[in-house]
Amino acid sequence: MIGKNILIGVTGGIAAYKVVEVASRLKKSGANVKVMMTKHATEFVSPRTFQEITNNAVSVEMFADAANFNVAHISLANFADLIVIAPATANFLAKMAHGIADDLLTTTILAYDKKVLICPSMNTKMYENPATQANLSILKARGVEILEPNAGNLACGTSGKGRLPEPEEICAAIGNLFNSARILSGKKIIVTAGGTLEAIDPVRYIGNRSSGKMGFEIAKSAIKAGAEVILIAGNSNLEPPNGLKEFIKVESALEMRENVLKHFETANCVIMSAAVADYRIKNPAAQKIKKDSEVLTLELVKNPDILRELGTLKKSQILVGFAAETQNVLEYARKKLVEKNLEFIVANDVTLEGAGFGVSTNIASIIWRDEQVENFSKMSKADLAEKIIERVAHLLSKDKKFFPLTVNQ
Ligand code: C5P
Repeated sequence: MIGKNILIGVTGGIAAYKVVEVASRLKKSGANVKVMMTKHATEFVSPRTFQEITNNAVSVEMFADAANFNVAHISLANFADLIVIAPATANFLAKMAHGIADDLLTTTILAYDKKVLICPSMNTKMYENPATQANLSILKARGVEILEPNAGNLACGTSGKGRLPEPEEICAAIGNLFNSARILSGKKIIVTAGGTLEAIDPVRYIGNRSSGKMGFEIAKSAIKAGAEVILIAGNSNLEPPNGLKEFIKVESALEMRENVLKHFETANCVIMSAAVADYRIKNPAAQKIKKDSEVLTLELVKNPDILRELGTLKKSQILVGFAAETQNVLEYARKKLVEKNLEFIVANDVTLEGAGFGVSTNIASIIWRDEQVENFSKMSKADLAEKIIERVAHLLSKDKKFFPLTVNQ
């Protein structure tokens, strides 16, 4: 982990002693390691121990050094490529889930917007308490990575789930998070985005409200993950992201179909986030239609369903669809998942505030073939794109290693 900046947050559990070994291993692997502790954590391990191991000052107090003008929680948050909280107590989970910032550690977390890995460790009853489980669900839905505790003998004399994983397991989870940056290396992904335009005449068209934001974020995320990405975009004003293998601008559903099919055979995955028009004008006028008649009737014919066609053609390709609905979201989405023969479908209710067309956030659920559902709370389209790409990488990796699939969040 050469050159990575890792901030470890230690909260007040007996397992804090194991985290000394975590800090040591990370340091030896070439990472820059800083440690912040809660006051309770210092009852278990001295800050001096972490200081000697990491060669960096250990932060505990919010207002420790008035002479130093650095705002500690902001500079720590800015430093970190990753924050690891180990051990994470039930109290910490509750505070993080609810945005409480009453010490340096919780305030730093609130001022931080990148990856967080949490390693809960506590007595089994505390872990299984519905309050703790609800807090974990909130955090998972926000995209926080959780390394589940092991089962075994606990310091309190009982045995059950709640043991902090061993230092090598924690370091492996941290390594996976950094490696996951190239999880689609060598894979070819087709992403469609935006809405199609169906010509009425050379001047007018039938369109829809899709901005293309979701699809462009998916393309960006797939590029970041090392994939060869072909972005096929209908109507959208967005700039194509850097690093695309090919950017194909299309207008109509027929054009989109032609281009998707051209690349489909050699693709590993198609993510159809485009809002494809279900109907097109049967006979678009060759010249601009004049407003001579009081009533103008347009005859529409059905467009081919691109995704459904891919579902019949697919060999090993992963197919991901979207279902933008205004009612009965899960029911309609499940039906599409089966009918179009998809691996998973991303469903959202476009009537909700913070979801759907034009906005940069989404509130989505991912529905799987085995009927499991992952419900995500409101998150940026960029974060949702990352979730989708992680799941595609998971399906494409032989040993299904890229993300711990947690369902029913
Ligand atoms: O059936 P419905 O249009 O709601 O399904 C939405 C999903 O199907 C989206 O992933 C969309 O990109 C895709 N689709 C398609 N061809 C169409 C209509 C939708 O590929 N003609």
